[in-house]
Amino acid sequence: MLRGRSIGITLAVVAVVTVAATLAGVVAITIEMIIDGHPKNVVLTVVAIAGLVGLGVALVVARRLVKVSRGLVAAVEAVSPSQDFVPPPGRLPAELDTISKALEQAYRRLREGRERERALEGARRELVAWVSHDLRTPLAGMRAMVEALEDGVVQDPATVTRYHNQIRLEVDRLSHMVDDLFELSRIHAGALRLTPRPIGLGDLVADVLAGVEALAGAKGVRLAAEAEPVLPVYADAAELGRALRNLVINAIRHTPEDGTVVVRAVAADDAVRLSVADCCGGIPEDDLPRVFEVAFRGEAARSPGPDRGAGLGLAIARGIVEAHEGAIAVVNEGAGCRFEISLPVSGPALADPI
Ligand SMILES: Nc1ncnc2c1ncn2[C@@H]1O[C@H](COP(=O)(O)OP(=O)(O)OP(=O)(O)O)[C@@H](O)[C@H]1O
Ligand SMILES: [Mg+2]
Repeated sequence: MLRGRSIGITLAVVAVVTVAATLAGVVAITIEMIIDGHPKNVVLTVVAIAGLVGLGVALVVARRLVKVSRGLVAAVEAVSPSQDFVPPPGRLPAELDTISKALEQAYRRLREGRERERALEGARRELVAWVSHDLRTPLAGMRAMVEALEDGVVQDPATVTRYHNQIRLEVDRLSHMVDDLFELSRIHAGALRLTPRPIGLGDLVADVLAGVEALAGAKGVRLAAEAEPVLPVYADAAELGRALRNLVINAIRHTPEDGTVVVRAVAADDAVRLSVADCCGGIPEDDLPRVFEVAFRGEAARSPGPDRGAGLGLAIARGIVEAHEGAIAVVNEGAGCRFEISLPVSGPALADPI
């Protein structure tokens, strides 16, 4: 009957049984004394019986408690690193049941943590393989061009200029990539330190658009902003600007000539939303959940050419937004897709800014 009950209740029952047995004895003594007048033997017998009953109950209870706690220890020892905790069979006393549930939860969290770590490790390995390929290929191309220039194999001025331009472009692209990789490694290592301040979202949008105006102009893409200049948000202006710039550059890259990219900043109840809508014609449904993965590139961005991406921009944007305790998402909408950043109005906790 005491299975599954609290240890406190069990101990109380042991005490009550002992007291009840003694009380019953006292009643019996009183009656016996009145009937035959041999109180000494009766008292001794009754006390002995009461003591034995109490001892018996205590022994049964103690054995059971020892058994179930050993069962719990055995269950903990039996857990392998990749498994969840399996509680011992049968009902446990309430306190041990609470411990067992806490253990179950702790082991589940440990397993999830280990799985996350394994996935991260896999992604890191993939990234290293990808980086060595993506850095080596343009470096080999540049080396060939430099050698051709050095040896005088290429002499006509037009080709020489073309080679110089090409080398310059590749150097820019590579240094941009190394910079992105550095940012990403800081994000992954949890070393991204934010210095959040109240900033006007409208100003942030204007700054980012001013920075990409030349790029949009060269592609013939129109830029439009719909943001109140003073819409306040508590954020790290440089980092959030970087995330937004990555979205806007993507939008410009994937929007055909004469298309428009619209950047909006609106305040909702408990969040502010920053969105970038373009005319890319929509991202394939299969790619939608993967665009924020490190090194993911769509078909067009994989082929060599000026639009060739490194696949880091959105992973960085997500890292920065999540460091701000916000969220980033993408949907296909109208003539293209819309990336949306939402940030809590209260802003990220001011965790140890340097
Ligand atoms: N606005 C967009 N329209 C259509 N496709 C997009 C858009 N933004 C991102 N994508 C797709 O998501 C992929 C990943 O984007 P991400 O910014 O991470 O990498 P990237 O632009 O290829 O390279 P990087 O930003 O490192 O130069 C892109 O290759 C592209 O296929
Ligand atoms: Mg990009």
